[in-house]
Amino acid sequence: NNESISELLDRLCAVVADYPQPGVSFKDLTPVFADPQGLRRLVDELIAPFAGQFDIVAGLEARGFVLAAAAAYASGRGMLTIRKAGKLPREVYRDDYTLEYGSASLELHKDEIAPGTRVLVLDDVLATGGTVGSAVRLIERAGGVVAGVGVILELEELGGRANLGDHQVLSLQKV
Ligand code: PRP
Repeated sequence: NNESISELLDRLCAVVADYPQPGVSFKDLTPVFADPQGLRRLVDELIAPFAGQFDIVAGLEARGFVLAAAAAYASGRGMLTIRKAGKLPREVYRDDYTLEYGSASLELHKDEIAPGTRVLVLDDVLATGGTVGSAVRLIERAGGVVAGVGVILELEELGGRANLGDHQVLSLQKV
């Protein structure tokens, strides 16, 4: 069928009022992940524009893992695991970043990418861009080159794209 990706998201996303705080309308992607066509469409659409341009796919804990693992498998690449602080067992690069309320840190094992490796970064949502921005810094510190950033939802009013410099950012739906 010829349903657009935006129509598919509108059909399958669960919209939750007042979550996680009053006044916020939360788009829950888990029903899209649970749908056999939904997951495949998301992954296919995220990787198609970057075909031939990346050597590995980075996933950001936790929901980015779902997309990155499937994208890596579908494109015959490996997956780079970028985790929240304290989860990776070996030597890591660590990047601290600011959240709307407080701070967070991401980590990447130091030895997982060779210099010049082209990395496609995938996550579910781009909001302030703090998370993806942190991942980009980690990849660059490790000697990698960011080939692009792909997300399903972009919360446009939070301006995350502006925090990502010149990197190519693909979002499947702006909300
Ligand atoms: C959410 C989302 C992105 C990030 C986007 O992750 O999955 O990773 O926030 O926000 P930002 O652009 O303002 O940084 P969350 O921290 O809720 O983690 P989870 O995927 O582990 O639930």
